[in-house]
Amino acid sequence: MKILLGPFSQILPLSGLSLKGTLQDEQLTVIEKGGVVISAGRIVAIGPYKALLQEHPDCEVAFIDKPMVLLPGFIDCHTHICYDGTRNRDYAMRIAGKSYLEIARAGGGIWDSVTKTRVADLVTLVENTVARANRHLQEGVTTIEVKSGYGLNFESEVKMLRAIQQASLHTAATLVPTCLAAHMKPRDFSGTEEEYLQWALDELLPVLKAESLADRVDIFIEETAFSTKAALTYLQKAREQGFVATVHADQFSAGGAAVAVAAGALSADHLEASSDHEIDLLAKSDTVAVVLPGASLGLGMHYAPARRLLNAGASVAIASDWNPGSAPMGDLLVQAAVMSAAEKLSTAEVLAALTFRAAPALQLKEAGQLLAGFAADMQAYPTADFRDILYYQGKMKPAKVWKKGELVQSSYDNKG
Ligand code: NIG
Ligand code: FE
Repeated sequence: MKILLGPFSQILPLSGLSLKGTLQDEQLTVIEKGGVVISAGRIVAIGPYKALLQEHPDCEVAFIDKPMVLLPGFIDCHTHICYDGTRNRDYAMRIAGKSYLEIARAGGGIWDSVTKTRVADLVTLVENTVARANRHLQEGVTTIEVKSGYGLNFESEVKMLRAIQQASLHTAATLVPTCLAAHMKPRDFSGTEEEYLQWALDELLPVLKAESLADRVDIFIEETAFSTKAALTYLQKAREQGFVATVHADQFSAGGAAVAVAAGALSADHLEASSDHEIDLLAKSDTVAVVLPGASLGLGMHYAPARRLLNAGASVAIASDWNPGSAPMGDLLVQAAVMSAAEKLSTAEVLAALTFRAAPALQLKEAGQLLAGFAADMQAYPTADFRDILYYQGKMKPAKVWKKGELVQSSYDNKG
């Protein structure tokens, strides 16, 4: 069955734009009074509504009777939404000025979430992940990467990745799992960092592969986590096993982005501490530079240099980093809108960063644009002018969201 949706006040297909470098708003294609034909979860045609009505007389029509702007669904290519427990104590200490070390000494930090997630049962983790994924979906995020990394032993890493796999059966959003066993060396592992990473390579990754639980690995490169040297070896060996790589890079100190590029990682994420050297390396590579304004907001830190990355010619995606510690808010659009005002990003650059520029970070071939043949993952905002979406700084939420052509959210509230 073919359905014609429309007329929309404006459709922004976000197609035909460069994957890398700067974008001006004048480059955006805006289809006024547009329509989209969908069938079997995919886009069949897109263009002026009246022309589509004539070209597709056999269509069922889903009439849009209010002003709306149609965009591709957002792709959040970096989250940690599979976890149990809160870190509100960390947050209260941090905003009151306590240091990282003081918070860790009080039992906070990543290890606190590891402890809470290890004792959670599978069902709880599935429910938590589904609830967060559905919240994202309502807010227009139709594809969500989800990391493990609060297990840090065989049983609990596998439990997290099974929970993500099961959660994907209970939400319409697409979940893309990533193994982040290399989040930190667990406190109960007695060997060196190299020994821990070798354990993951020998004991964990082959099982994840065999059970199709993940084909992506991530590592946190930082003085408090893993060194650049150990990380490069880990990523190279994981790639030999058939995994693709992504990296938590340059969050507090530079070094990780260079490893990501050297290892041929799909993305280098964070980048708050990247200098001109790392920016240049990323710009010359195919590694997507993923900036995470939610972590800057949660930690009270400066943003990653998104403007300089784009000016240098890098591909910049924006993701939420939704996690219980550094980025508890999880509202991708609020974060992107707030960052864009500080970093001076054009609307075109922000919308690109949330859609087709995030797609390669997850190797998605048919998502992030409204184009014939692509998935009908779409969202419509309750306005006639696309500039309202960032103007309201994320407070305006989509009135409708479709995942693979199915309407999964519909309300004309939250107009900003
Ligand atoms: O991306 N930087 C390391 N990992 C997470 C934080 C996770 C946590 O604090 O639980 C991040 O910000
Ligand atoms: Fe993260």
